[in-house]
Amino acid sequence: MQELLSAAKWTHQLFVGGLFILALLNIYFIKKEQMFHELAKQIEFLAPQYYLLLAAILFTGLLVWTVEEFVIKIDVLTMLGVWMIIFITSIIKYQKYKRVRIKDMEGQNSFKNFAKKKYILDIVLIFSAAILSYVL
Ligand code: HEM
Repeated sequence: MQELLSAAKWTHQLFVGGLFILALLNIYFIKKEQMFHELAKQIEFLAPQYYLLLAAILFTGLLVWTVEEFVIKIDVLTMLGVWMIIFITSIIKYQKYKRVRIKDMEGQNSFKNFAKKKYILDIVLIFSAAILSYVL
């Protein structure tokens, strides 16, 4: 059981690291000067991977929590809250992306602004949740 716990914890942290890197990559692509249709290709490539990592983080997190018999701890509640915020803002971002039209420059800029802020928030939240869990 101890081996399962440490393997699940390790993979959980690996997926968290992956999500952090993907959030950074998203910001890089949004900031990079380029045509919107090029950015759209990168968004369509990265979005499924982001969701996959979120699912993997939830799965491994729940696995660890089950082994720990669902003990309520501040760090775990924070992680759950952070996960929910990232998940919900990802859905909102995708809805906004779907509404952007090819020649609508204003809509494209407003989407880019929203996406940039969303990924900066994700990075801050992931970093804070990770630090909190190491400190507590
Ligand atoms: C994006 C959000 C998340 C981040 C950044 C995150 C980060 C981390 C980190 C860095 C650890 C290792 C802590 C250590 O070894 O002391 C950890 C452990 C853990 N995570 Fe997450 N996690 C997230 C989401 C979740 C979710 C959704 C769950 C589901 C309940 C979860 C449950 C747990 C549990 C139970 C542990 C073990 C805590 C302990 O033993 O003190 N995490 N997490």
